[in-house]
Amino acid sequence: MVENQAGVTALVTAYIRAYHAVNSQDKIFNDYLADRLFSAEEHVSFNQNLTGMLPLINPELAALNPTPKQAMDNLVETHHGPITLSRSAYTEACLEQAIQRGVSQYVILGAGLDTYAFRHNQKTSPLQVFEIDHPATQALKRQRVAAAGWDIPPQLVLIPIDFTRQSLSDVLRASTFQPERPAFFSWLGVSYYLAPDVVAATLREVRSLAAPGSELVFDYMDAEAFIPEKAGKKIQLMHWIASRVGEPMKAGFEPGVLAALLNDLAYAVLENLPPSEIETRFFSGRSDAFHAFDHVHFMRAVVR
Ligand SMILES: C[S@@+](CC[C@H](N)C(=O)[O-])C[C@H]1O[C@@H](n2cnc3c(N)ncnc32)[C@H](O)[C@@H]1O
Repeated sequence: MVENQAGVTALVTAYIRAYHAVNSQDKIFNDYLADRLFSAEEHVSFNQNLTGMLPLINPELAALNPTPKQAMDNLVETHHGPITLSRSAYTEACLEQAIQRGVSQYVILGAGLDTYAFRHNQKTSPLQVFEIDHPATQALKRQRVAAAGWDIPPQLVLIPIDFTRQSLSDVLRASTFQPERPAFFSWLGVSYYLAPDVVAATLREVRSLAAPGSELVFDYMDAEAFIPEKAGKKIQLMHWIASRVGEPMKAGFEPGVLAALLNDLAYAVLENLPPSEIETRFFSGRSDAFHAFDHVHFMRAVVR
């Protein structure tokens, strides 16, 4: 991330969840609060900026002069939406299972504008939620939460961190997090932006801090996404866009190598979903243009 610049990618992923919740009849993930984190002017400017990318992303459709709504729907379905919507749906389904077996702490690493804690208030959820994020992104979130007229729920703790400079276990241990109790960790849309050694260090830190039975879910790119001759067109475009907004993607992993790393760190891999399996679970039978994104995988592991 650019120093002191709030995560642009966090804003875009939240905006896409908001757009999908408002505009799609057949919801992959219903982030029904996200819309309220954006002003009316921002809706206009986000739509303009995103549809301005249509000639790059889908030149065939751009040549047909689609309406702004047709352009946005297509961009969300084919490019910006599949990863964020399916990974959030997957994570919250896994989290629900963890809650059923008694997990009472949820740590969201690189939370961005995640609304889980606002969608599950204290009356309906016994879960303590810890949002860990870059200080600039977290400051932006606080401003947007205040502008939406929301209070920070009592069960939510916001903790700033720069993963490249600070220790996750130090910051969590200094909070009300209870390391002796199992927790559920999510780490969505972050691993791509960190160097491989920072990803490995974070996995090690979560392991060193989390009690047995704790679970970690995250999405990652495969190694081929970083090899120009092997990376698909969409992922190449994503590299280009990420670099342009100052958040270049840095790490991809061969799925078996990542599973072996987790095993060495005393995690047990529960699921390591390739795009084909993500397609089956989240996108099959749809009548729109949503499909799983090539090169993006979901990992679910439990601390042994
Ligand atoms: C693509 S956003 C994803 C946000 C959210 N998890 C989601 O799915 O919408 C990437 C997130 O990683 C965070 N991030 C990136 N680099 C970071 C770093 N060095 N330290 C802490 N957080 C970082 C950003 O602040 C941002 O919230």
